[in-house]
Amino acid sequence: MKALILVGGYGTRLRPLTLTKPKSLIEFCNKPIVVHQIEALVDAGVNHIILAVCYQADQLEDELKIYEKKLGIKISISSEIKEPLGTAGAIAQAKKFLLPAPNCNKPFFVLNSDIICNFPFKEMIVFHENHGKEGTLVVTKVDEPSKYGVVVYSAEKGGEVERFTEKPKIFVSNKINAGLYILSPSFLSRIKPIKTSIEKDVFPYMADEGQLFALDLKGYWMDVGQPKDFLTGMCMYMDFIVKKQNKGINDVKNGIIAPVIIDETADIGNDCIIGPNVVIGKNCRIEEGVRLKNTILMPGAKIGQHSWLDHCIIGWNSDIGKWVRIENVSVLGENVEIKDEIYVNGGKILPHKAISTSIREPQIVL
Ligand code: GTP
Repeated sequence: MKALILVGGYGTRLRPLTLTKPKSLIEFCNKPIVVHQIEALVDAGVNHIILAVCYQADQLEDELKIYEKKLGIKISISSEIKEPLGTAGAIAQAKKFLLPAPNCNKPFFVLNSDIICNFPFKEMIVFHENHGKEGTLVVTKVDEPSKYGVVVYSAEKGGEVERFTEKPKIFVSNKINAGLYILSPSFLSRIKPIKTSIEKDVFPYMADEGQLFALDLKGYWMDVGQPKDFLTGMCMYMDFIVKKQNKGINDVKNGIIAPVIIDETADIGNDCIIGPNVVIGKNCRIEEGVRLKNTILMPGAKIGQHSWLDHCIIGWNSDIGKWVRIENVSVLGENVEIKDEIYVNGGKILPHKAISTSIREPQIVL
């Protein structure tokens, strides 16, 4: 079975992390986001993955080719050379990979690359086969539907999608598109390799024709395409997957408050308190007396003595001095240096910067 992952967006909302790494390769809980998806796809029987790429293609290809061997699958790259073709155009561009063999009508998966959930791929296959139409999209519940485009569908008709409504003022549905689809090969004849959106230019027409069905996602879901949601997604993932494994190490005396994920290569000094909701990547170095909560350290980050971090993402190889305080969804790009005794409140700091004066109000530091 095949799956196409849309990895061609610019990831502007996840800057400054995406200034040096494609969004899908950014480590979410110590594993590139896209690898969470690939592993779940393989588990559901997928053996050929197509990455629809339009920038930083070489970096993606190099890093993901490793997984071809590791997981025993084929990974193909479909590139949009001149310009991003949008979510539908990108699928059309990859037609040569997605067209089935003669007399084969197997559907294929399509995924947005920044989604984290308990991927329901096996359930999607069964649901799609049962309704027998052209497309299935997964939907997830939100608390404030008026901020989103919602999907209106009929539970009595087995999930048949009736329409999409942008930011509804009165309640029509609290389900939104979760960015996971399974589509039959006939879908490919609807799209062309020109700039078009699957959400706006294709799905509404399929709904009008009764060809699109919605499957309700059970469990957690998060689009981790912006820093605040990346941190929230980390907490959800921890709650769902890691909490149980961390049982028994919720041990304040030894400095760990579960849930946490700490790479085995990380070096942690004495008298630190770490957690809850902390991820520490490969080769990180944490000196004595450090306090970390609700924070992600990308590989190679260093935190100096007695620093205090809450709700932060610290980029690769960044170097935080002593007695530093960083909080309020601060995001440091790759290789940022923060001098001793500095305060950072909601700062978004571009890669390779050195910061020697405090940032007291949320701002982007160029
Ligand atoms: P922002 O710039 O922060 O909006 O990020 P984005 O464009 O990466 O994300 P968005 O949520 O808008 O896109 C949803 C998914 O579609 C993401 O997985 C993107 O990588 C992907 N995507 C968006 N536009 C394109 C495109 O033109 N080509 C391809 N191949 N993928 C795309």
